[in-house]
Amino acid sequence: MLYKQPLHNLRAKIEEFWQPKRLWRRVIALISCPIVTLWAWIAFSQQPVTLNLLMTTPDAQPWKQGSIADFERKHPNIRINLIEGPNAANLVEDLYTASFLLGDSPYDMVNMDVVWTSKFAAAGWLLDISNRIAPEELAAFSPRDIEAGKYAGKLYRIPIRSDVGMLYYREDLLSAAGIKPPATFADLIAASQNLQRSGKVSWGYVWQGRQYEGLVAMFVEVLQGFGGFWVKPDTLEVGLDRPETLRAIAFLRDTIQMGVSPPGVTTYQEEETRRLFQSGRVAFLRSWPYAWPLANQPDSPIKGKIAIKPMVGTLEQNGGACLGGWGLGIAKSSKHPEEAWEAIRYFTSPDVQKQLILQAGYVPSRKALFADPEIVAKYPHYPKLLEVSQNAVLRPPIAQYAQVSDILQRYLSAALTNRLPPDRAMQAAASETRRLLSVKG
Ligand code: GLC
Repeated sequence: MLYKQPLHNLRAKIEEFWQPKRLWRRVIALISCPIVTLWAWIAFSQQPVTLNLLMTTPDAQPWKQGSIADFERKHPNIRINLIEGPNAANLVEDLYTASFLLGDSPYDMVNMDVVWTSKFAAAGWLLDISNRIAPEELAAFSPRDIEAGKYAGKLYRIPIRSDVGMLYYREDLLSAAGIKPPATFADLIAASQNLQRSGKVSWGYVWQGRQYEGLVAMFVEVLQGFGGFWVKPDTLEVGLDRPETLRAIAFLRDTIQMGVSPPGVTTYQEEETRRLFQSGRVAFLRSWPYAWPLANQPDSPIKGKIAIKPMVGTLEQNGGACLGGWGLGIAKSSKHPEEAWEAIRYFTSPDVQKQLILQAGYVPSRKALFADPEIVAKYPHYPKLLEVSQNAVLRPPIAQYAQVSDILQRYLSAALTNRLPPDRAMQAAASETRRLLSVKG
């Protein structure tokens, strides 16, 4: 019968299996199979998880100098792959945006500028972290830095550090010339020309004039000083074609036309302006506090010769300090949200933030650190900075911010480089912004 053949084969195989000379090999194989599987599973599950994180190249330097290595030592199950991106906040934003739009984004944590949360959260790219942290813990941070991490009442970003635009000046030169630190735009120009005339400096004032995010961050400060506004977040009213805006632009153009600022200033970002100021050839610089430790490093020609104060304004209106700053969120597409949260807890903790500040001169996002004795010993201007940061000017925290900023960057740059008359440039900027926001300002 046909079915007898398979049965016969089977019996033969069983007898062969139990033959004493092969038996041990077989038993060992049977036992070791699950052991090998278990071992492979354990080995695989103990492989460290890698979290990808992208930031601008200058921002990455202090992280590479210690905090990442310390974190990895304390968390052997997590590696941080820090990717150094281009040196402009808006270009890094473009990279994050492109990767989220294309899907399959490699980023686990998102290092977000203070103006990104609304857009990223509205697009659904971030994990809601509201329930991961208690309100008492959030209360330790500056309220504005926390607000900047919220969208539609939910929290998406924990601030690692804050930032505020400030005016740096050569205290040594001003006091030798008997000039008081300037309070108004007119004082700033007069003091600059005075020091230029006496040959103490080549240039009076340097600021960020390139077409990029830093241009609008600088501009909102001047705009505030002239009593103007960009977009009111509550009503979406647009103020770009108002006379105050044109006065603010006239001031910046004057600095170039009068030779107070170098003609190349319209191509400068933060680092170009900082290097020029640090060379000792400039009296005043608009920048963020990160420039302080660099300008005071041992080989700096201006070490110990500088001071810092809030931006100047007009007789009627105090100057503004733009609120900047960076924080971490979790990408919704990340396969490792728990590890990402562990890393965020670590990098935003008081000790780690303190180290980052001592290293890089960043502005704390934790209120207590403004008065920390070690920090104040190194940066005596920090207690004053708390007040400045609490009254800082916001760039409009709206979901369309990236587009609104791009419009202003383009037209402002055109007005500053004589490609368009300022009034026409600002009329165009205002109407494009209104069209985008679909309301009449
Ligand atoms: C700083 C600020 C950030 C701002 C950027 C502009 O990094 O912290 O908020 O957008 O400068 O260049």
